This record gives sequence, structure tokens and C-alpha cells, in this order.
Amino acid sequence: MGWVHSVRDHGGILFIDLRDIHGVVQLVFSPEGDPAVYQVAQRLRSEFVICVLGSVAKRPAGTENAGLPTGQVEVHVSRAEVLNESKPLPFTVDDDVNVSENTRLQYRYLDLRRPRMQRILMARHRMAQAIREYLSAQDFLEIETPMLSKSTPEGARDFLVPSRLSPGAFYALPQSPQLYKQILMMSGLNRYFQIVRCFRDEDLRADRQPEFTQLDIELSFTEPEEIYRIIEGLMQAVLERVFGRMVSIPFPRLSYQEAIDRYGKDAPDLRYGLQLQILGSVFAKTGFKIFKETLAKGGSVRGFCAPAKKAWSRADFDRKTEWVKEFGAKGLVWLTHEKGGWAGPVAKFLSAEESAALKGIFRPGEGDTVFVVADRAPLAANVLGRLREEIAKELDLVPKNDLQLAWITDFPMFEFSEEDKRWVAMHHPFTAPKWEDLDRMEKDPGSVKAQAYDLVLNGTEIGGGSIRNHRSDVQSRVFDTLGLKPDEARAKFGFLLEALQYGAPPHGGIAFGLDRITMLLTGCESIRDTIAFPKTQKGTCLLTDAPSPVDEKQLREIHIRTLL
Ligand code: AMO
Ligand code: AMP
Repeated sequence: MGWVHSVRDHGGILFIDLRDIHGVVQLVFSPEGDPAVYQVAQRLRSEFVICVLGSVAKRPAGTENAGLPTGQVEVHVSRAEVLNESKPLPFTVDDDVNVSENTRLQYRYLDLRRPRMQRILMARHRMAQAIREYLSAQDFLEIETPMLSKSTPEGARDFLVPSRLSPGAFYALPQSPQLYKQILMMSGLNRYFQIVRCFRDEDLRADRQPEFTQLDIELSFTEPEEIYRIIEGLMQAVLERVFGRMVSIPFPRLSYQEAIDRYGKDAPDLRYGLQLQILGSVFAKTGFKIFKETLAKGGSVRGFCAPAKKAWSRADFDRKTEWVKEFGAKGLVWLTHEKGGWAGPVAKFLSAEESAALKGIFRPGEGDTVFVVADRAPLAANVLGRLREEIAKELDLVPKNDLQLAWITDFPMFEFSEEDKRWVAMHHPFTAPKWEDLDRMEKDPGSVKAQAYDLVLNGTEIGGGSIRNHRSDVQSRVFDTLGLKPDEARAKFGFLLEALQYGAPPHGGIAFGLDRITMLLTGCESIRDTIAFPKTQKGTCLLTDAPSPVDEKQLREIHIRTLL
């Protein structure tokens, strides 16, 4: 039984490819056979659902198809029945489907019949299975936490659900099970995990969805080293068992500062070099006004060297200059290494010492180009980090089949939000500061490091976690630094502060984005391809038309009046 994948008529003999989740097999209907069977075959069109009975035979010599797992055989059909018909299709059920994503999402049931989509969902299933097996063997318990819950901040907006029984009050769908998993540790459950849906109302990108799946983990009496060990073993097991990919452990570690300084972002792609360099000492006495003024103002001059794989024209450099300006840079200096010297519009400002120092740092080959940006340090790093990725793509320097995992550690605990004019938690407010930095929390929050870590795969953050505040006084001080008034803190997190006072064990954990991991390992361009029923960039479901208006009566029951 299955779907008619294709129908071919070879001078009366009908060849039908029959498809189901396991693949395709060729059926043969001969006009010399049973006329009733042949009549059924003549009615068949793409995606009809059929049931056939027949004998499997070797294909005649010369007609085998080596490109197909079933290419050596065919089925000679003796009975056939149509179980259901299909209207003509909006697009063909083929892996190289050539139709807009919106049409695919509207007819998701047809889209999901494509073998590629089915393979991705199978990989997700096997991933969940491997995770459960690995963690169960390490004494972790899978425990469910509520979907109708109270707001837990993870930096996004909440999806709210109005309550019928408590007029005017709302549940929040969990941005993550963060507080519940911590409460489970305080409940003595020791090791928890959950494969769990999370909801975040944020602006969507290619690697974000409003609802997505986390592998969520928490342990008691732990420290980062133990968490790294468990996760490295888990990743190794999943990658090998599900994707047949080997990775060596331990994964390399970089501090947040190293990642920013060398790669310009906290989720660096380590599959290629093009490392950024800080050039302040090279240009300390420069005659080039822009660099001089930037350094005098406490800014930074940074750059990286691209290999000579392409001869860029003046227009190419101008395009790159415009491109970096979109990310806030004021300009871009390029210096091409030519005949032992440097060429480019700014080269004439280089002194002999500067020229030699640049050669010493970058060790350029003939035709290599150094790109330099001068600005506030974070902006210069960010822009160069983006340019680094762009140029790696342009010059084809990314080894597509490599898997480069790395831990990023030593994150700052707080960052200052210019928008809100206050300190905000870089990971989340339940993260513990490094114990040795505790004294500086009130005086100099910007210098406090967090006991937080991210796992990065090929330039994408796939997971993040931390050791938590298990002492209520430290948790209160963090809330305080974040500008949360004591009564506000009690209203929002009173249950947590209370629970921390009844023998809360030290604990910590991590969470992974399973959709993102699937995306990276199956080579999907978009996270939407890894989710059976995803939302569009605008947060809509084109299959069901959600979100959609509801009737007045439903709204009255939940005490809601709309303004539109
Ligand atoms: P965090 O907010 O870093 O941590 O989320 C963990 C991982 O979830 C994935 N992720 C997403 N995937 C798809 N769409 C989204 N909108 C989205 N947002 C996040 C990312 C990310 O690395 N409670 C903490 C974890 C902890 O501290 O234990 C948390 O949720 O891959
Ligand atoms: P200008 O003097 O403005 O014509 O700039 C000379 C060169 O310096 C141009 O190539 C600019 O793109 C570049 N430039 C200007 N500002 C910066 C900056 N902050 N960092 C790097 N390059 C810059």
C-alpha cells in the first residue's frame, strides 16, 4: 500500500512507482494481464492511494536502476485497488521541489511526503531516543513541567493565556522551564531532563521559531566541569548514533573575551582561521588621522587578513565599505600585500615600522588583504566578525563537512542596556556570579563574571546554561543589581526566594535548541525545515491559519475585549 509517485506508459506497459515512508518500488502492469487490474492501473494519477498484490521479480537484464535501493526488482501486479484519489497537485512530491515556501507550508501534508522531510523527522526521533537512553543511563529523570505557568524571563516577550477562572489574570507559556527545573533540584530530584516545548514572542529569524524544542537539563551538587563532561559524552553519542559523525572530546574552550577578540562574536565559527587582531600597539604613533583619533578617544583599531583567492577591484572594496557601514562602522581600510609592501588608499600613511609590524602580525603572502576597522572596541569587533564570516563564504574557506564544537566560558554577568538605562543579566537572573567576583557586584557590576557557558557548533549557539544562585541572599543581591525592587522581586519570584531558604542544594544546568541542532546536522537552510508544523517569519501557521479571530462568546468567558 502507498502513494502513486509516478506513472510511465511504455507502449502499453504501465510502470508505476509506488511510494511510502520506506521508499519507492516499481510496479508493472501489462495489458496482457488481468483486464480488471489493467483498468485500475489506467486510472492511476500522482498521489492516488493504492493497494496492490503481486510477486516480486528480478528486473530484466539491462533495465536495472543502480541509483535506487530497489532498482534490481519490480512487482508484477495481480490485484489492484484504489483506496483514495487525489486532486491534481499544487506541486510534485519530489526532493527538488521548486515552489515557494508559503505554498509548501500551506500544503504541509504534501510537503512532508517528500523523502527529505521524512528523513529529517526520522533523525529528530532518533535524536530524542538517543538522548533519553544516554541520560537515563546517567540517572537523569524525565519530568514534565507546566505549560500554563508564570512568566520566567529569558529575554523575550511572553505569550500570555487569559484565565477564565481568575478574571483579569494571565498564565504565561514558558520561555523555558528554568524555575521549575530549579525547584525540582530543591525538591531533591537530583538529576532532571526534559525534551520540552518553549515559547518566545520575539522577532523571528532563520534560526528562531516562536515555539521551539529544548533539551533541558539540571543537576544538583554539580559544577561546570561535570556538566561539560556529561554534555560532551551526550553530544558524542548523539552525533555518532544518529548522524554517523565522530567528534573528539573534550571540546575546545574559549573565554567570552577571547571569542570576541579573535572572532568578533560570542558564537565563533572555528572551521576556518581569519582571526582578528588588535592593532592598537601597531598604530600607537600613527599619522593616519582616523586611527589616531579613535585611539585617543579610547577606541580600538582591529583587523584580519584574507588570503589572495580573488583579485578584488576598487568597486569590490567600495561595496565592502558600504556593507560594513550598514552595521555601524564608519569606514573600512584595506591594505593589500604587494611586492613586499602594502597597497591601498591608506597605505601611504603607513610608516616603515607600522608596515613591518603589520607583516609581523599577519605574515601575509603576495596579494593577501588586511581589513581594518577603527571604532569603539565592541563595534569594531562586531563588524569585523561579520566581515570575517562574509569573506570566508565569498572565498569558499568554510569546510562544509566539518563539525567544530566549542565551549564559550567566563561570560560577563551583566551588560548595561542603553535602552533601559540599567544593568541586565547576560544569561538570565538566576545565574550565579563567579564566587570570587561576588564582592564587586554592587560597586562594579560590569566587571563581574558569571558561572555561565554556551556550547557553539559551527558559529551557532546551540546551548547555554549556568550554575545557579542557590543562596537566597545572593539571588536577592542579583535582583537588586538588576534594579528589581524587593517588593517587585517578591511579587514575581517570591516562591523562588522562599524555596531557596529551605535547604536548596547547589545546582546548575544547561539547555539545547534541538531544532537548531537538527538544522545544522541535516544541512537545512532554515529551522522551519526541521519542524513538522512550523510558523512563518510573521508567526502564522499557513496550514491552519492560526492565529485567527475567535467569537465574542469565547472572549466574554475569558474577560477579554479587543481594541481592533
Ligand atoms: P537559552 O535562552 O540560551 O537558555 O536557550 C537555550 C537554547 O535554546 C535555543 N533557542 C531557540 N531555538 C529556536 N528558536 C528560538 N526562538 C530559540 N531561543 C533559544 C538555542 C539556545 O542555545 N533556561 C536557559 C537554559 C539554562 O540556563 O539552563 C535557556 O533557556 O539553541
Ligand atoms: P576618508 O578620509 O573619510 O575618505 O577615509 C579614508 C578611508 O578610511 C576610507 O577608505 C574609509 O572607508 C576609511 N575609514 C574611515 N573611517 C574609518 C574607521 N573608523 N575605521 C576604518 N576605516 C575607516
